[in-house]
This record gives sequence, C-alpha cells and structure tokens, in this order.
Amino acid sequence: MNTLKDVAAALVAPGKGILAADESTRSANKRLQAVSIAQTPLMRRVYREIFLTTPHIEKYLSGVILYEETFNDSIRSGVPFIDVLNQKGILVGIKVDEGTVPFGKDELTTEGLNGLPARLKAFKEKGAHFAKWRAVIEIKGDELPTPEAVRENAARLATYAKDCQASGIVPILEPEVLLQGNHARGRAAEVITEVLQEVFKEISAQGVDPEALIIKSSMAVSGSDSGCKDTPGQVAEDTLASFHASVPEEVPGIVFLSGGQTAEDATANLQAIAEHKETMWQLTFSFARALQGEALAHWAGEDENIPHAQDIFIKRLELVAAARDGRYREEIEKELQALL
Ligand code: G3H
Repeated sequence: MNTLKDVAAALVAPGKGILAADESTRSANKRLQAVSIAQTPLMRRVYREIFLTTPHIEKYLSGVILYEETFNDSIRSGVPFIDVLNQKGILVGIKVDEGTVPFGKDELTTEGLNGLPARLKAFKEKGAHFAKWRAVIEIKGDELPTPEAVRENAARLATYAKDCQASGIVPILEPEVLLQGNHARGRAAEVITEVLQEVFKEISAQGVDPEALIIKSSMAVSGSDSGCKDTPGQVAEDTLASFHASVPEEVPGIVFLSGGQTAEDATANLQAIAEHKETMWQLTFSFARALQGEALAHWAGEDENIPHAQDIFIKRLELVAAARDGRYREEIEKELQALL
C-alpha cells in the first residue's frame, strides 16, 4: 500500500470500517468506572486486549485508532498491540491531538499542533498509517457554536491534516458536533454543514489534498435532551443533506462516530444512510462506544467473562459492518440481543 490515497481507500473499503479504540486515559477510565471496573493501567490494557484480540475482527475492521498508551503497549503474552493488528492486516491509526482547552467564554478548541511533525514522524516509523484529530463543537440554541470557534477548530484541523500528509500519514479530521443539548435535528444538520464548510475552506486555503483524507462526522440527530426520537430515515436524509452541502466529491470517505447513541440506534441509522445509494463517498463507521459498550459491560473486569464479551463484540461488529453495506437485519440484531 504505497500512496496516501491507497491507505484512505483501504480504510473505507466496502464491508469494513474503523474501531475507535483511542479513548484518552481520562475517557477510558470513565468507561471503566461506569461499569465498576478499577481504573488502572492494567485494566486499561486488558480492556484494549479484549477488543484487539477478538478472533476474526479483520473481517470487518480496516483500521483501529489507538491512543498513545496502547500504541506503545503489548498484550499479556508480550506481543506489541501494533504487531497484533499488523498480523491481522488491520491498519494502525493514532490519535495525535492532545485534548481540548477552553476557547473564548464557553467553547473548546483542541491542542497538539506544537511539535506535531516530529511526533508524526515517530509514529510513522513505528507503523502508523493514519491519524486522528478531534475537535469538539457544542450546540446551544443559536448562540453556540460561535463563528470564531468554528473557524479556529477548522484551521487547526487543516493544519494537522497538512502535517499528516507531509509525514506520509492519512489524516482523519473529526469535528464532533456534540449530541448533548436540547436542539432539534435540523439545528444539528445546520451546524454539521457550517462546520464542514469551514473545514473545507481551510483545507483549500492551507493546500491540503482532499483526496488523501477522511472526514469523521456526527450524524444529524436531535439533541439528547430534546425529548425527540428521530427515525433512521430522518437521520439519513438530514445527515446526507449536510454532506452534500459541504463535502467535495473527491473526498474518498466519511466515517461516523456514535456520539452517545445506543449501539442499536447507531447501527440502524448507519443502515438507513447506506440505503441511499446515490452518495459519491464511501460512508462507514468509526465507532467507539457503539462497538465496545455492550461487551465492556459484560466483561465487568472478570477474566472468565472475556470469551463472552468477545462474542458480543464480534456480533455487534458484524451487524455494524452489515449496516455499512445496507445489509443489517432485525433477525441478526435479535441474535445479538440474546447474548446480552
Ligand atoms: O472521538 C470519538 C471517537 O472517535 C468515537 O467515539 O463512537 O463513542 O462517539 P464514539
């Protein structure tokens, strides 16, 4: 796999998607705490090992995004995580942003640009093919996001992407529009459109190649406190309308975060999106919680539960990969529900 375009195409290949196993130490601890598992380096390592050593994940995963702690770590038997993925033919990705910092009065931007080229070079030498940078955009009525925050985050995403491409690494640009809030689905779609338009303005201004990057987006869904439940058809329609108004057709692919949706909702919404055959991009998943959450709860920190947790994980992965191709069916969802 020689060029950045080859890597980008492989990441969004039909039938496959990306596992986001790149929760920061803080987020990983939050996930463990939620299911009463000790928040230790050992438990974080077992957490990663459960997912990355599940048999046959390579059938459905083109890539896995790692956090630096895992990137430099090994499974119990001493094999580095990177080698585990390489042996399965899964591309290794790395989260390179260094988290969020306050921006203006109420918003956030993401840091990590200082020294980024040197870090990218080191990750590339150790085997990373792609990277991820997450920006966080909050919706609050018509007040947030402010144009200033949108511009700042878009500019940083583009600078990161430029550095990645110069280092021979495919950038995933993730401007996450948060699900939290009481906004309507239409407002989410409006903000996704505005943010992606600004990102592509910056991409063009900074000379980033749009054919050698992947966009990671939220789906357009009603805010989690809105009291509204969208149908998958509505989510698909509004999400795709946002992309058509903002993403150039030469971009090879758009992947989705799950953002706090239930695994079932995220899968059904992805299926509805895939049913729209007229899109010019490859559209697939890059979930963290919607792929790992059910299995994590069943593991509960006990070694004897690991095989069952892995059965649950591979089943959800099979379902999400089927949804990515428009082949998700309720009968297979029932098979999974029976395991829970
Ligand atoms: O940055 C967020 C992750 O890449 C996706 O996580 O699917 O749990 O929202 P999520």
